[in-house]
Amino acid sequence: PRNVARGPAGALTVAGLDVRDLAAEYGTPAYVLDEDDLRERCREFRAAFPDADVYYAGKAFLCRAVVRMIAEEGLFLDVCTGGELATALSAGMPPERMGFHGNNKSVAELTRAVDAGVGRIIVDSFTEIDRLSELARERGVRPKVLVRVTVGVEAHTHEFIATAHEDQKFGFSLAGGAAAAAAFKILDEDVLELRGLHSHIGSQIFDASGFEVSARRVLALQSQIRDARGVELPELDLGGGFGIAYTTQDDPASPHELAKRLRKIVDGECAAENLAVPHLSVEPGRAIVGPAVFTLYGVGTVKDVDGLRTYVSVDGGMSDNIRTALYDASYSATMANRTSSAQPMLARVVGKHCESGDIVVKDEFLPADVQPGDLVAVPGTGAYCRSMASNYNHVPRPPVVAVRDGRARLIVRRETEDDLLALDVG
Ligand code: LLP
Repeated sequence: PRNVARGPAGALTVAGLDVRDLAAEYGTPAYVLDEDDLRERCREFRAAFPDADVYYAGKAFLCRAVVRMIAEEGLFLDVCTGGELATALSAGMPPERMGFHGNNKSVAELTRAVDAGVGRIIVDSFTEIDRLSELARERGVRPKVLVRVTVGVEAHTHEFIATAHEDQKFGFSLAGGAAAAAAFKILDEDVLELRGLHSHIGSQIFDASGFEVSARRVLALQSQIRDARGVELPELDLGGGFGIAYTTQDDPASPHELAKRLRKIVDGECAAENLAVPHLSVEPGRAIVGPAVFTLYGVGTVKDVDGLRTYVSVDGGMSDNIRTALYDASYSATMANRTSSAQPMLARVVGKHCESGDIVVKDEFLPADVQPGDLVAVPGTGAYCRSMASNYNHVPRPPVVAVRDGRARLIVRRETEDDLLALDVG
């Protein structure tokens, strides 16, 4: 996070608070959110896309306090389940500022979204179009929809999080004609209002050319629809997926650069096709919340394994950050409670779970005198860590502490063993 520094005693501070005090107050592990950092990132996206709507992708991390922060910063919100929708509504997010995603929204979820007056529903299958049309007819409403288009771009990211190549579950294929068929079907169903097209090519993407190709392809469909039906769709959503730096090797484009390149493509294609320029929206999740958080862990054991490697075990692991195990993601780590003049030593930061793949940081240089009782901070854990956390091995999930202007407040409390037991019946 941006407001992290080393205090006079060598301990990390965030927004003026010493991490040792945070650890004493809230325990470890804990996710620490630099609130001003998150808010600045919201503002940067808004400034980069001044005439577009910025939807924060709630799947990256959602709780009521964060919903309020992004709403205060003028962002919209993308939700993709009934649970995310309920969280947003309970935080007072205006429903018309939300988009509802998902490849398998249930009838109950769609009903809730329609009844709440969610601003737009991004439809993902013919089944969903039928379900939604039926609901709209029953209720005498006309929901606004976007069609999720699979543009066939090979995004250069981990295959589990790439979403625009043809062979996958999301969206309507552009090449196969399903996307055009979906748009025509909605235009024929008078009960749905087709507002535009949507594409999302994947996540943690560094190469902006993927977004450019995708924008070109959806705009080609846009003009095909205009030519066939005489309708110019007023909106276009280019999705999220903007990469962030997890280690010093990563070099992501700024929101500003991305926006400039996307604008150029959209304006150019529209001029060439003689299309009115649609109102744009984007859906960053990771780029807003990812860098604003670090996880603070306590070191429990340090084990040198036959001179091969040193394992530094912390008090969390794959239950609070599954990304290393699942995507082979790279993170960094730093000793947080003090500095040391000891030699740097190549270490592997591992968790406390009962499997050997329980790795938080694959390789990191830590001072050779790292010892039980030290604190270790792992930055960049705001996105897809708490939101993908589990209770594996019956480990209670860590709290989220927001810090700002020298003050800390708990925004998600730590789970307790009672929370875990509360679900057992009998
Ligand atoms: N819009 C749509 C339709 C999405 O499916 C996603 C992410 C986003 C926006 C936001 O993408 P972002 O800007 O956060 O990259 N669990 C994986 C990431 C899965 C992303 C799913 N969809 C990970 O930990 O890397």
